[in-house]
Amino acid sequence: MLAVDIIRKKRDGAELTSRELEFLIEGYVSNSIPDYQLAAFLMAVYFQGLNDEETAALTLLMAHSGELLDLKEIKGVKVDKHSTGGVGDTTTLIVAPLVASCGVPVAKMSGRGLGHTGGTVDKLESIPGYRVELSPEQFVSQVNKIGVSIVGQTAELAPADKLFYALRDVTGTVDSIPLIASSIMSKKIAAGADCFVLDVKAGRGAFMKSVEEAVQLAQTMVEIGSRAGKETVALVTDMNQPLGRCIGNALEVKEAILTLSGKGPQNLTSLCLELSAEMLVLAKAAENREKALQILRSKLQNKQALSKFGELIKAQGGNPQVLDNLSLLPQARCQEAVLSTQAGYIQEVNPLALGQAAVLLGAGRRTKDTVIDLAVGIELKKQIGEKIQAGEEIARAYANDAALLRQAVPHIKGSFTIAEEQPSSPPLVYRKITANNV
Ligand code: URA
Ligand code: CA
Repeated sequence: MLAVDIIRKKRDGAELTSRELEFLIEGYVSNSIPDYQLAAFLMAVYFQGLNDEETAALTLLMAHSGELLDLKEIKGVKVDKHSTGGVGDTTTLIVAPLVASCGVPVAKMSGRGLGHTGGTVDKLESIPGYRVELSPEQFVSQVNKIGVSIVGQTAELAPADKLFYALRDVTGTVDSIPLIASSIMSKKIAAGADCFVLDVKAGRGAFMKSVEEAVQLAQTMVEIGSRAGKETVALVTDMNQPLGRCIGNALEVKEAILTLSGKGPQNLTSLCLELSAEMLVLAKAAENREKALQILRSKLQNKQALSKFGELIKAQGGNPQVLDNLSLLPQARCQEAVLSTQAGYIQEVNPLALGQAAVLLGAGRRTKDTVIDLAVGIELKKQIGEKIQAGEEIARAYANDAALLRQAVPHIKGSFTIAEEQPSSPPLVYRKITANNV
């Protein structure tokens, strides 16, 4: 077999066999196929696409390029949840303890921030003492003991994806649905859960700008899950404004604690309930969405979800007193109220611009080696559809560097569009995709 023949075949739009895909992936991971040939292959895929069979084969080959996590020792159905990435997306910090408080084990591997989107692992590190690295044995034993663990994704997880992603990033081949779907699902499958709930974001702050594209990505991932024997449900959800009101690591931990205490922003709370309900149904802990929602609401009300978060923090070396004393989280030295010069209704809150402003403040990485500032970020005082007066606070910026604060404020202000008429709020969930309705 020759790499050039496989590249030519895909370039001309023909279907590749699993054997051919295996030849490319194994060859690339073991260094017998050079970057330029894999880059040419990725570009051929970008233009010609992959069918469902090819996409599933590619995903499984990538998943098996390293070690697969074995969660067999954990009793019960293991459901994993994944978001394709947004701004202010604090859902994992809420969903994991909430679902665990219903008796469904949550063994979760999470990532760090990427570009303008935040990452769960960075957020958790703002809890004093919290350790994101556990051995596989500690991880499994903690889930058996308290029902939940959230750790960082190890480098051994789907190494082919890591290599592919680095090449895609510099060859203009990131935004291809089969490549995104196989990249995400290879890591999910390698992380060992039995079924998956996917939160596929659509809108200005997401990879997929339109609902149609997001639905296509969701369908592709659900199909991969089915073919791998793992039941998968996807919700296509809105990312035309940030989720909740906080952007930034410690600020989002604070927001998660408030949400688990029943005092969170409405859109964040609703989305967490919807995602958690899908997880309970997949784990057979509830008959249907409505019954699941009932159970979940009771766990928020009786504070069992909140105390599960405390158990999680304590088990991983963190200080659970943060739940009662939010000032134990890293605090920024300077803050500034961003005031509106106009009166009217909020029409748009640009999540991409706000995500970038948060990175500017130091909440995200500008280069691979940036040390992020856990304390800084943005708190939104207004969301789409809300009324504002001239001179009223529209947002608040938190920084540890006064010069950065001055730079960020105009960007934050520019993220809001205000007009006279009250717009309707964007829907939170656009579509649900299951294996049966693909
Ligand atoms: N997230 C991933 O893990 N992979 C992609 O290709 C895009 C987003
Ligand atoms: Ca948020």
